[in-house]
Amino acid sequence: MTDPVGKAPDRLWGGGYAQDTHPLVQKLNASVGYDQKLAYDDIVGSLAHATMLRDQSILPEDDYAAIVTGLRTIWADIAAGRFVWSVAREDVHMNIEAALRDRIGDPAGRLHTARSRNDQVALDERLWLRRTLGQIAGYIAHLAAVLAEAARDHANWPMPGYTHLQRAQPVTVGHLLLAHAEAQLRDASRVLDCLQRLNVSPLGSGALAGTTLPIDRDKTSALLGFAGPTRNSLDAVADRDHLVEAMAAAALGAVHLSRIGEELCLYASAEFGFVRLPDAFTTGSSLMPQKKNPDMAELLRGKSGRVIGDLVTLLVALKGLPRAYNKDMQEDKEPLFDAMQTWGDCLQVTADMLAAAQWQKKALLAALDKGFLLATDLADELVRAGMPFRTAHEKVASLVAELVAANTTFGKLGAVRLADKLGVDTGVVAAAIDVRKALRRRDIPGAPHPGRVAREAVAMGKRAAKVQALAQAWLVPCAAERLLVGDAA
Ligand code: ARG
Repeated sequence: MTDPVGKAPDRLWGGGYAQDTHPLVQKLNASVGYDQKLAYDDIVGSLAHATMLRDQSILPEDDYAAIVTGLRTIWADIAAGRFVWSVAREDVHMNIEAALRDRIGDPAGRLHTARSRNDQVALDERLWLRRTLGQIAGYIAHLAAVLAEAARDHANWPMPGYTHLQRAQPVTVGHLLLAHAEAQLRDASRVLDCLQRLNVSPLGSGALAGTTLPIDRDKTSALLGFAGPTRNSLDAVADRDHLVEAMAAAALGAVHLSRIGEELCLYASAEFGFVRLPDAFTTGSSLMPQKKNPDMAELLRGKSGRVIGDLVTLLVALKGLPRAYNKDMQEDKEPLFDAMQTWGDCLQVTADMLAAAQWQKKALLAALDKGFLLATDLADELVRAGMPFRTAHEKVASLVAELVAANTTFGKLGAVRLADKLGVDTGVVAAAIDVRKALRRRDIPGAPHPGRVAREAVAMGKRAAKVQALAQAWLVPCAAERLLVGDAA
């Protein structure tokens, strides 16, 4: 709930202003409409900061107790949707600090000792992104696990493989699903890598130059579950690299999902008929009664555009900024939240959609029969009989042209007549034009040999489980979170 205060706000802090702020300044300056998403992390950060101030004898015990209780009641209200956010109070940090002052009075004034909103927002964003990327890595691991399971079930389902969207060589449905799983695991490794780098504490960097007060940065870092404090105060408050890294990973991740979406759109069309998407993922047309549109698959494509846009928005916002903090950096939040929300939602819907997709064996086999997908296998047989590959290629190419002109296929013509035309043994040709045998003959690492695909599917399941465990480790609540929500967190 946000209270859209229309009049120019009273200034919350500072003095000596000759004028109130212009109403549009208030509107443009206020970020509380979106940065309230950081409330949990802001409060967790404040609890760590207050605990350290108390331990350093900067904050009296009584005031500490009042601050902790006040922050807990504020969080309870926010979590229950009862908290009224005020645009006049500009951002999440000032809303929470002012609410604390409303509730506990003077002790609230000691919380911001040796802290600036610059290190505060840098901290909040790291905490928020750490948890969010942990969740995203979990969604990716789940999607990879779903792909692994579907691949195991379809390890031996031949389908046409395409290049240039022209039928090329046989693969299996399982092999295709595992291709997508490989991309997902690369996305996961980018996320986990970003997590390692972002896991440092900027708290204590102050506005830009630290503080003269005897704070303990190791203490707050440990309470917040970071690997250690950042090493340069100017860098700590100006650095948004981790957001860029996360959003670059999101942009590529969204592109990967977009490519899955495009395949589903194509394969679910009547023209292909390779897969059926359950009704839960399709919608009807307002006009054409027969339509079932693959909206979700289409939106996997469509949503990638906005995630790419989010990354570009942030890069452009950062490109000209001098050290250290500049207000431009407030513009990092909406694209960050949007990119992560979109990526996370798309990952989850993709997993559910692929788990429910029904592959159509008959249509897949019928398509295999048509496109001369085993032409290369036939050429390989000629090579085995001693012919140079280029000659074999030419010979099979003119044979295919002849069959196309006669509107027939390898299968219809039959092994005997094919062998005759090519001047090789019938048995050899029969083996080469049998798609199941052709797949089994691709017995090399990385190829769609059904037995290998089945083993790769099992391996993918284990790899996905490892990523899931790594993801969950990032979601374990830190000591400061336990101060807020107790050990139930
Ligand atoms: N709302 C601000 C942001 O997100 C917080 C930091 C503002 N710092 C300042 N000195 N005005 O960037």
